[in-house]
Amino acid sequence: MIDRIKQLAEEIKTYKASSKDDSEAFRLKYLSKRGIISQLFNEFKLVPPDQKKAIGKQLNEIKILATNKLSELEIKFHVEDTIIGEYDLTLPGESIPLGSRHPVSIIRNEIIEIFSRLGFTVSEGPEIEDDWHNFSALNFPKDHPARDMQDTLFIQKNPDILLRTHTSPVQVRVMENQKPPIRTISPGRVFRNEAISARAHCIFHQVEGLYINEGVSFAHMKQALYFFTREMFGHNTKIRLRPSFFPFTEPSAEMDISCSICNGKGCNVCKHTGWLEIMGCGMVDPNVLEFCGIDPVKYTGYAFGMGIERVAMLKYQINDLRIYFENDKRFLDQFTGLY
Ligand code: DAH
Repeated sequence: MIDRIKQLAEEIKTYKASSKDDSEAFRLKYLSKRGIISQLFNEFKLVPPDQKKAIGKQLNEIKILATNKLSELEIKFHVEDTIIGEYDLTLPGESIPLGSRHPVSIIRNEIIEIFSRLGFTVSEGPEIEDDWHNFSALNFPKDHPARDMQDTLFIQKNPDILLRTHTSPVQVRVMENQKPPIRTISPGRVFRNEAISARAHCIFHQVEGLYINEGVSFAHMKQALYFFTREMFGHNTKIRLRPSFFPFTEPSAEMDISCSICNGKGCNVCKHTGWLEIMGCGMVDPNVLEFCGIDPVKYTGYAFGMGIERVAMLKYQINDLRIYFENDKRFLDQFTGLY
């Protein structure tokens, strides 16, 4: 039987076909139900057990050989069939390049989705603001350095009209227009008069968060932010809150997350501290509640604010802010399929 298989292999290799009919004849002769290879498989049952292994292997090989040869012939004659005049119908069409979502949009959507599970709605405000909403109602003293021309892009002086330097003014607008309980986040674009570098840009995005109700405490804030962190960066991520200062919150804190790159052991990204700064937060200052028409005796609340580019940088290990705004397809294509 081995000899027959060898001879068959030779026959198959040298089989000459010059038309579709020849290719079909090949199939009938070797690979159809009553073809030679099928017959050999039937005979295989009679092969003595000690030869089964060797012959079985040869049989499988000859079947593969014949199948490959048949697809070769089929492709050859199929292609000839599909060339009509000067058109080859088998050529692939022109591909349509697919767009992808920008990483800032992907992360913004993810932040919205996570906080929506805690009952937060989305609020938006204008990018062109007045002094009241951007500074005064947020308890910035008249001589606060953030009001300086160095940081703020003014459109008009006296009365001051400016490009908002943060998304916190949306807090003010929401509190002025709604009654507690208020639970909302505000994603948006912000502007600062910064020299552009790998770590700073004059345009970037923030998400502001605000929860006002009776009996809201710092502990509620901590738990909400912990929930957010674990959903965004993974369930093993830890948080820590460091005392800080913002005019609009008291007490204020800066929140760090354990470094997702080295798991807190220390690396270049976390500057060997094991921690990464990710947002500012705190209890809304009673002055701010009062400025916005909310009774600070009855209500308390927390607020927080984070940079979307910063979250995306940590999540996707991006090390230069400028790349977000360059529209380089090689960068953007890496986010294809994410929403
Ligand atoms: N507005 C701050 C900034 O732009 C971020 C911020 C910090 C917002 C603390 C808050 C907060 O709501 O409580 O840097």
